[in-house]
Amino acid sequence: MKGVILAGGTGSRLFPLTKVTNKHLLPVGKQPMLLHPIEKLREAGVEQILIVTGTEHMGDVVGLLGSGKDYNCHFTFKVQDEAGGIAQALALAENFAGGDKICVLLGDNIFEDSIVSDVEAFNAQEQGARVLLKEVHDPARYGVACVDGDRVTEIIEKPKDPPSSMAVTGIYFYDARVFEFIRGLKPSARGEYEITDVNNAYIEAGEMSFGHLQGWWTDAGTFPSFHLANRLIMEQEAAQEK
Ligand code: G1P
Repeated sequence: MKGVILAGGTGSRLFPLTKVTNKHLLPVGKQPMLLHPIEKLREAGVEQILIVTGTEHMGDVVGLLGSGKDYNCHFTFKVQDEAGGIAQALALAENFAGGDKICVLLGDNIFEDSIVSDVEAFNAQEQGARVLLKEVHDPARYGVACVDGDRVTEIIEKPKDPPSSMAVTGIYFYDARVFEFIRGLKPSARGEYEITDVNNAYIEAGEMSFGHLQGWWTDAGTFPSFHLANRLIMEQEAAQEK
C-alpha cells in the first residue's frame, strides 16, 4: 500500500500563524505537524509517501522532508495549484498510486491510535474503500456517518442536524477506482470537490467498510483544535519520556 498526505489549503482559520508558512509546518508538540501523519504511515510499513501541498510553501515542505532518507521512506511531492477541496488534491495522486491501494491522511489530523490493523484490514479487503470513525461532541464540524449495524449507509458533510455523533476522520483507504469516482464529481455548495461525495459513491456501490478509532483524535485546523492537538501530543511525549 502507498501513502498520500494532503497538506494543502490556505490555513485561513489559523491566520496570522499561516501568513508566512503552511499550516502543516506549524509545531504540534516537538515536531512540525506534518511529521505526525508520516510517523503513522511509517509505523504501518508504508514506504512510498506522496505529499500534496500548495505552491506557496512547497519549498519549505521539501526542505523539511528531503528525499525521505531521514525517515526510511521515499517521498514524492505534487503541487496543488489552487485550494479546490480534498478530492481535487487527491486526484493528483493518480500516477503515483499506479493502480495500487492507497491510505490517505489529512495532514492536520492528529491521533493516538496506530493504523497498523486498518492497513492490514484494507489489504485483506478485495476492493472498495474504508473510513475510520470517531465519536465526537461536535459532529456538525465534520463529515458525519449514518451507521446501520455493520454498514455505513450515508455520510453527510457538516450537517446542521447531525444524524449521529460519528465523525468521519481524515484517515481514508481507497482502491484505484477512487480516481474514476473523483472524475465524476461536481463542486459542492462551498465550491469544493468533497471527499464525502467520493465516500458516498463507494457507499452506493456497496464497497465501503469502516473501523473505529479507540484513542483520542482531533484535527488541528482551528485555534481550539490546534491547541488541543498540542496538549494531547505533549502529554504523550511527556509520558514517553518518563
Ligand atoms: C474534512 C472533511 C470532513 C472530515 C474532516 C476530518 O473537513 O470534509 O468530512 O470529517 O476533514 O478532519 P474540513 O477539514 O475540510 O472542514
